Amino acid sequence: MGIDPTLLEQRLDELYTIGADPGGGAYRPLYSSAWATAIERVERWLTEAGLETHRDAVGNLWGRAAGNGKSIVTGSHIDTVRHGGRLDGALGIVAGLTAVEALLKAKGTPKRPLEVVAICEEEGSRFRTNFWGSRAITGSIDSVDPEIAAAMRERGLDPTKVANAAREDIDTFVELHIEQGAVLESSGTPLAIVSAIVGTAHLELTVTGRADHAGTTPMESRRDALTGAAAMIQAVESIARSLGKPAVATVGKVRAEPDQINVVPGRVIFTIDVRHSDLGARRALEERIRSLCATIASERGLGLDIRMLQERPPVPMHSDVRAVLTRAAKDCGVQAVEMVSGAGHDAQILAARCKVGMLFVPSIGGRSHCPEEATKREHVELGTKVLAKALELLAY
Ligand code: GLV
Ligand code: MN
Ligand code: MN
Repeated sequence: MGIDPTLLEQRLDELYTIGADPGGGAYRPLYSSAWATAIERVERWLTEAGLETHRDAVGNLWGRAAGNGKSIVTGSHIDTVRHGGRLDGALGIVAGLTAVEALLKAKGTPKRPLEVVAICEEEGSRFRTNFWGSRAITGSIDSVDPEIAAAMRERGLDPTKVANAAREDIDTFVELHIEQGAVLESSGTPLAIVSAIVGTAHLELTVTGRADHAGTTPMESRRDALTGAAAMIQAVESIARSLGKPAVATVGKVRAEPDQINVVPGRVIFTIDVRHSDLGARRALEERIRSLCATIASERGLGLDIRMLQERPPVPMHSDVRAVLTRAAKDCGVQAVEMVSGAGHDAQILAARCKVGMLFVPSIGGRSHCPEEATKREHVELGTKVLAKALELLAY
């Protein structure tokens, strides 16, 4: 079964130009015009590959080759972060459709339905939500935020119908993704089978001080919310460092109010993303962060409110799928390693409804979520070949 490496690279290049961001990289947030153009492009490729396409109630795009029983599905997300790279999400879609196209050519109609999905949203870059597409597939969206509802209507989608996107007929979901870290590159390994996806907590901290005149308020009488937040941010970093790998904690968003050059900041809102592959260790990390931030706030006479935006436990990949991926790698002449994913993926959500598994190929320099995100051509080809072999084992 032939996988054309040039075709893979051409398709990845083509997708990457859609939503090209003037500041570098691509930006295809959910329901934006770049997002819609990218979906149309993938729809054309799916049709050309001989798949029957349809868009579900939230805008996930499906391409299907008919068969009997529950479906074998591959794919990834079409959205990107701001200044996103060429491969995060795009690789899983392009590799999935190119693998299925090659299988249909070489082997004809599968026994099982074989599907490729371009998931509408995973990253959480535009709205206060993430895993929007996979949560719709698992039927776990209870309400639609008015801002998302308005964006859906602009794309011709009815926000009252999201429940229709739920699927009960998926047997297995397999996704090829870039590692987004440097484990594979540093060990000289071309491929990994994911054993589990880390657990993540997203916190939002509101620090309340007092807005005052920057020229007339002496330093000792201030209740500066931003200097307090800065001390908390330093503490977040040192706690995660002191716990050591694989603990990570990131402050990615900070907003100071009133955001004026000559006013002592009265309020600061910032987020913390806390991850660990072990649930207990993740909770302990979060507890230490909460307690140190509370101490800093009280020492400085500041108010502190901590809100949990989202909490997701670590999710193991299904042992049957891991076994199929191991066999597929072996059949392709590769000895793959097993590793835990530090990044979040749709598979962790879909695991609630079907068997899931993931393959990782190396990221050059471990770079991702930035325009420098890249993977060697030979690794893109190898990952796609192993994915195709796994789909063959599962669907034929
Ligand atoms: C998604 O890329 C995440 O890990 O947050
Ligand atoms: Mn991704
Ligand atoms: Mn990502």
